[in-house]
Amino acid sequence: MKRNILVAVAWPYASADIHVGNITGSYLPADIYARFHRLQGNEVLMVSGSDSHGTPITVRADEESSTPEEVYQKYHQRFLDLFQKIGLCYDLFTSTHTQNHFRVSQTMFSALKEKGYLYTETQKQWYSSSQERFLPDRYVEGTCYICGYESARGDQCDQCGKLLEANGLINPRSKMDGSTPELRDTEHFYLDLGALQPQIVEFLKEREDYWRPNVVRQSLGQILAEDLHGRAITRDLKWGVPVPVGGWEEKRLYVWFEAVIGYLSAAIEWAELTGDPERWKEWWYNPDSRAYYFIGKDNIPFHAVIWPAELAGVGNTFGALFDEDDQHSLVLPYDVPANEFLNLEGKKISGSRNWVVDGLDFLTRYDPDPLRYYLTANMPETRDADWEWEEFVTRNNNELVATWGNLVNRVLSFAHNQWEGKIPDPGELRPEDQNILEVLQEGFEKVGDLYDRVKLRVALTETMRLAGEVNKYLDEKAPWFEIKEDKDAAGKSIFTAIRAIDSLKILLAPVLPFTCEQLHRTLGYDKPLFGEQYTDSVEDNLGTHEVLRYRQGDVCCEWQPSVLAAGSPFHKPQPLFQKLDPEVAEEEYNRLG
Ligand code: MF3
Ligand code: ZN
Repeated sequence: MKRNILVAVAWPYASADIHVGNITGSYLPADIYARFHRLQGNEVLMVSGSDSHGTPITVRADEESSTPEEVYQKYHQRFLDLFQKIGLCYDLFTSTHTQNHFRVSQTMFSALKEKGYLYTETQKQWYSSSQERFLPDRYVEGTCYICGYESARGDQCDQCGKLLEANGLINPRSKMDGSTPELRDTEHFYLDLGALQPQIVEFLKEREDYWRPNVVRQSLGQILAEDLHGRAITRDLKWGVPVPVGGWEEKRLYVWFEAVIGYLSAAIEWAELTGDPERWKEWWYNPDSRAYYFIGKDNIPFHAVIWPAELAGVGNTFGALFDEDDQHSLVLPYDVPANEFLNLEGKKISGSRNWVVDGLDFLTRYDPDPLRYYLTANMPETRDADWEWEEFVTRNNNELVATWGNLVNRVLSFAHNQWEGKIPDPGELRPEDQNILEVLQEGFEKVGDLYDRVKLRVALTETMRLAGEVNKYLDEKAPWFEIKEDKDAAGKSIFTAIRAIDSLKILLAPVLPFTCEQLHRTLGYDKPLFGEQYTDSVEDNLGTHEVLRYRQGDVCCEWQPSVLAAGSPFHKPQPLFQKLDPEVAEEEYNRLG
């Protein structure tokens, strides 16, 4: 049965470049998952975009003496470049700074307000008269009222580790210009999470059995330990989505409230762009569709609690704001397979301290598939992982080059030479040949199940184990010697090995799309495995923005063992991977810090 799969990917902040930790945290697993389901023939919709509002972008703009708009555009362009180069097949990668997103966010806000899930409250907040703005908690510094530490942040004290109420800071200073802020009254809208708690708990309990333990702990576990309370969803800010209520012109929707709405607004924008504006409903209104949210662990509360609360809160009233008769509910997350963190050489990744492996910079020296391979083999799915340059080089050389690349190369080169570029006719297969093909056939089920349950690291390990089995088979058969005695026997071994390689190609394709596509062409297929990525420009009343899109086209997608026929022609193979000099590890290590 074909399924609709929504692959919802974390929206990167458009105020910093993307590093390997971000890539393995959410973007890469999402892409692997999408490609797996595309190969299965399911209806995949993979969406995300630049998270382009919020205070960090306004701060970066002040630092660079530019505007938030320019900051977001600059990083957004770099994301598009990186995502094409590492092959992330978003159906739409857009941004939150679009007219469509404004409209959808405001619609969600109004629907929640109509349903009585929003209330207003006035609180005191630090205001900087020199900058003429309210300061977000983490931009105020002062003395901790618990332990006396003099450089505590408004939201948290790094000495005693306690969460703070910013209002209580003693001797407060603005982190932006050192001036002394004063407390002023400000009114905000709050999302009434207390009132939504029963619905959220029910939603989480239904999913508890199959969600990752860490995600359950940080959602259901926390709610059961401590009740939810209202959260402010507006801010005193000029950059962002306006609050659709008269008299609120000086305020904006809180960036986290609206960014998660991007999953819905991007689907709507995507449908619009395809010329079939209703199509987003096949994912968002269809109770059989499954929505997967690929995020890092620091985003868990927003995706496992707050976003479901927003969705459950609007209930079936969202569509009615477009069309009176529309009474559909929006689909709640099916899974939120959050990843843990990736460290670098034993330390936390930090852009400002140059302890980082930057995505675009990496790709100036290496290919994308070795990056995807190493990050997947090492993916922090169950615990924090560590990027070590030495391990990157060894795994590239021992696994990608030795186990997989050489297998492909020695079989296809030999076959191309000996059978004039055609797959040999094996006649009847021997039990050993059938045996290895059966092992691969079972692999499709086992590996498919692992991918489906978002156990990508194990799926890859299992696939590489199968590649190892094929190597063992070949070492035993040794067709290069067999051929001297009996060309027919060698033909059986080579036919079997080619089918095995062709099958491994499918199992590996979600992780290694570039080299699997290359191998696929070498094997003589005319239709590609995957569609193509391209950029497009969209215009609205906020300006022009570039987006990344994906055209599936006529592909040859099938999640099943190879049926390549005897006699079919193929090309002389080119190496899929390059061996790296072990010295590279040291060179790269020395660039850090
Ligand atoms: N910008 C946030 C981050 O990179 C992620 C936001 S996901 C969203 O941590 F859905 F809220 F946008
Ligand atoms: Zn303290």
